[in-house]
Amino acid sequence: MESLVPYITKHKNRFINELVELLKIPSISADSTYKLDVLKTADIIKTSLKQAGCDTVEICKTEGYPIVYGEKIIDSKLPTILVYGHYDVQPPDPIELWDSPPFEPIIKTTEKHPEGAIFARGACDDKGQMYMHVKALEFMNTTNQLPCNVKFMIEGEEEVGSVNLATFVKENKEKLKNDVILISDTGMIANHIPSITTGLRGLSYVEVEVTGPNRDLHSGLYGGAVANPINILTKMIASLHDENNHITIPGFYDNVEELTDTARAAMAKAPFNLEEYQKTLAIKSVYGEAGYTTNERNAIRPTLDVNGIWGGYTGEGAKTVIPSKAFAKISMRLVPNQNWETITQLFTTHFKAIAPKAVTVKITPHHGGQGYVTPTNNIAYQAASKAYQSTFGKVPIPQRSGGSIPIVALFEQELKSKTILMGFGLDSDAIHSPNEHFGIWNYLKGIETIPYFYKYFTELFHTK
Ligand code: BES
Ligand code: MN
Ligand code: MN
Repeated sequence: MESLVPYITKHKNRFINELVELLKIPSISADSTYKLDVLKTADIIKTSLKQAGCDTVEICKTEGYPIVYGEKIIDSKLPTILVYGHYDVQPPDPIELWDSPPFEPIIKTTEKHPEGAIFARGACDDKGQMYMHVKALEFMNTTNQLPCNVKFMIEGEEEVGSVNLATFVKENKEKLKNDVILISDTGMIANHIPSITTGLRGLSYVEVEVTGPNRDLHSGLYGGAVANPINILTKMIASLHDENNHITIPGFYDNVEELTDTARAAMAKAPFNLEEYQKTLAIKSVYGEAGYTTNERNAIRPTLDVNGIWGGYTGEGAKTVIPSKAFAKISMRLVPNQNWETITQLFTTHFKAIAPKAVTVKITPHHGGQGYVTPTNNIAYQAASKAYQSTFGKVPIPQRSGGSIPIVALFEQELKSKTILMGFGLDSDAIHSPNEHFGIWNYLKGIETIPYFYKYFTELFHTK
């Protein structure tokens, strides 16, 4: 394959400008105010896939936001790569903490990105990373170097649980048939330390509502005599972890995959600087489950976290009140072999069991999904590893991530194919946070690395 570097140098500004245009559209899937923007983004992706060389491109309607599907089939004897990504983004809130407006992309240099980074919601998660694949196809197509078949499936509901994509996958198995799934929606260790994500955690997300008296009460007249739902809720939540930060829900750890000492030792070899980690987060110490390192806690161990909690009076000044209700949103990150529906059930049973008779508890399960582990002993992993070696000059480190892309486990279940996670973001890129950004270097390096995956995967596929 001819080097992509001259092509990138020549088209660099256009590559950046096209991404900037895409980032200007607030495709926030969680907020229906932005419906037209989400739909408009799907149209732009469709056009860009067509321009990049797909033979057929379509907007596939779902009960929610559409899926953009495109393909270029050159020979049925050649392998097929299915690229997945998402064009929807997280809400930008809290908006006042952004240094520049979230949908007015600007390029600034940072300590980690001396060559500049694009600041905008979705820059890294996932518009920037998804668009690397579109530009990689453009390169392979215009230089006549596409070595295999390619299918693109870009959805608009990843940030809200991919519910309609699951149905689409189940109903279109033949259309989506492939030999490997390729995704850039994760991160890597550092720009000089390439890594391949080899695992994702599962997720169970629930909302709880605790009700005490039928109305808000005067906290003097009634205080001490009736249950305060906020007092009760916080007590219940506090009891979900013991003094070692183990989760106390009976059965929660039953199926948790325990890593062998060898596997843990291999994990511990990945470069990690605790002092720098604490410094960038402005914390004096890390915190978590006893007996595990920071990298283990955030990747191979399950967790339970309150994402939001509210109730009672939170306005200015003081109001003496016993609220009628208290609420919380709780997420549990799961590891391989934990079934998310079972965990949701265990949580529900336990949380109801620990509630005192003085309150009623309502639990509403939200979305969830299974975790995933990528095998490292197949041609897909080998091809990815060789691709990084070609462009970074280093063997990438396999590393399990703590994040979730629930659809990946469903891909395996329905399409029987493995997924390769080639992420080019950094943990410090602030995805889901104010001032999200994506390094220009990372963006271009991704575009440069992807075609090598196509090349090596096709070569290894024939020698299999
Ligand atoms: N791209 C992220 C997941 C991710 C980020 C995995 C970095 C590994 C490293 C994805 O868009 C995401 O935010 N997923 C959600 C779950 C989803 C069901 C809303 C998550 O992990 O919270
Ligand atoms: Mn994402
Ligand atoms: Mn996300």
